Amino acid sequence: MSEHDDQPVVVRTSAVDGQLTSYGDPAFSRFLRRAFLNSAGLDDDDLDRPIIGIAHTISDYTTCHRHMPQLVDAVRRGVLEAGGLPFSFPVPSLGEILMSPTTMLYRNLLALTVEELILAQPMDAVVLVGGCDKTIPAMLMGALSADTPAIVIAAGPMYSGNWRGQRLGACTDCRNLWARHRAGELDDDDITESRAQLAPTGGTCMVMGTASTMAILTEALGMALIGTATAPAPSGDRLRNGVAVGRRAVAIADEQLRPRSIVGEAAIRNALTTLVAIGGSTNAVIHLAAIAKRAGLSLSMLDELAEISRRTPLIVDCKPAGSGYLPDVHAAGGSGIIFKALVDLLDTEAPTVHGVSLGTVLSVQPAPPNWQRVVRSIDDPVGPVGGLAVLRGSLAPDGAVLKCSATNQALLLHTGPAAVFESPDDLAARIDDPALGLTPDHIVVVRNAGPIAAGMPEAGSAPIPRYLAQAGVTDMVRVSDARMSGTASGTVVLHVSPEAAAGGPLALVHDGDLITLDVAAGRLDLLVDDDVLAARKQDWVPPPPPERGWRRLHHLHVGSATEGADFDFC
Ligand code: FES
Repeated sequence: MSEHDDQPVVVRTSAVDGQLTSYGDPAFSRFLRRAFLNSAGLDDDDLDRPIIGIAHTISDYTTCHRHMPQLVDAVRRGVLEAGGLPFSFPVPSLGEILMSPTTMLYRNLLALTVEELILAQPMDAVVLVGGCDKTIPAMLMGALSADTPAIVIAAGPMYSGNWRGQRLGACTDCRNLWARHRAGELDDDDITESRAQLAPTGGTCMVMGTASTMAILTEALGMALIGTATAPAPSGDRLRNGVAVGRRAVAIADEQLRPRSIVGEAAIRNALTTLVAIGGSTNAVIHLAAIAKRAGLSLSMLDELAEISRRTPLIVDCKPAGSGYLPDVHAAGGSGIIFKALVDLLDTEAPTVHGVSLGTVLSVQPAPPNWQRVVRSIDDPVGPVGGLAVLRGSLAPDGAVLKCSATNQALLLHTGPAAVFESPDDLAARIDDPALGLTPDHIVVVRNAGPIAAGMPEAGSAPIPRYLAQAGVTDMVRVSDARMSGTASGTVVLHVSPEAAAGGPLALVHDGDLITLDVAAGRLDLLVDDDVLAARKQDWVPPPPPERGWRRLHHLHVGSATEGADFDFC
């Protein structure tokens, strides 16, 4: 017997000895795990360091993330510098442009994957590296459910391009150029030539679309370091942010600073305030509702948004609500400047991943420099309060949203006859048919494009019929249960709930029915008698669920847009 035989076996408390593979013998599991990690060149000194998972969304299918390997390397370096051990791992990457029918159908898949991979693998903290539209919301949802210490770093926006002396950027200018092409102003050669300058570098769309919006809102939620959202993807600022996030990840592992201790009601209200102030994407309303539910909160997102929108002006001059691009915002001081300008409207007691309150972080943040006009003060804003409207009424009993800051203001009080399209496919097939005889007064209704019916594609901003576009019409009222790209604009009423596939009144609209949009009153009404609608309801049949697989699971379990379109079992 050796002198050590009566000593208790020392079980290391390193994360590597947790979350064990189940072989019915934990000591063997630990032995085997270390054997395989030794084979990767890691010794016990490495393995006793804090393990920092780095969940990334690198994919050739997500061109917006093509620079992400370099960013992940920067995060790794930060982790190593702070004494941690980085373990990067891929999660599904949802590239907005290459997925059919819509990345929204897969947001919850990514959220589930992130949650499960955080919980199934040994890690003391996790860095979430996302960017393209659904990736950061899904990663936040998964991280909140896992509740392991977590911090987000966004991919960062592209730089803008230039075509024939005109600055261009994805994707507001993609849409504007395409509308001019449909109207006959740009021929086939023009539109093809312009294409090469719309997304000229790695990074996410460089207007205030969903990716930029969610990157900035993640800071407002407290889940990213203040000032990291806006640095252009190819810039040194972006890489230095990555290193800083890696260093901070080791600290939050030590502090056991968990997402649900950060994302409370104050964080959600701060995010909603920021959303309105930056003229951000309507998609964020859905994502914030899902994030709030994953955080265990029971806020009424639309009621909160309505109240916050009434007191919050637009302070950032960025497309589609304004004229600039994200690199301009960064040059004007970046996302930190936005929060500093908004400080009187924010709850500064809200905790952050910095380990101190938002107010403490902002106390050392310089005010917006007066040489710039991109980020304004709330006393000298870019636009009025009320940039996002919440609508309710007989056509949207559970609510709908409209981004007023990017519309034809004359249409915000409008009554017109409905032109009904049964689905996005039906819209694509018939919208340009002159036989429909649509006029600028018509209200284009697109249904069966909600979460249950179709995974909620960005089909809400229906194109102006070609013959009206060629006559100079640039905006019409459009109403749907779909979403709209954050880069788009127009008088587009979105997320009508309940959706048509759930039996909402949207399913009962007929061609020619009158609809009234009254934004000042917060109303969207179908001017059809109740007994007529009751008779139509008798004939309505819900769409059948897909036969198998993910789409069936999604159809059977996804909730309404107003509730975040998350699964009922999450
Ligand atoms: Fe990826 Fe716009 S398509 S962020």
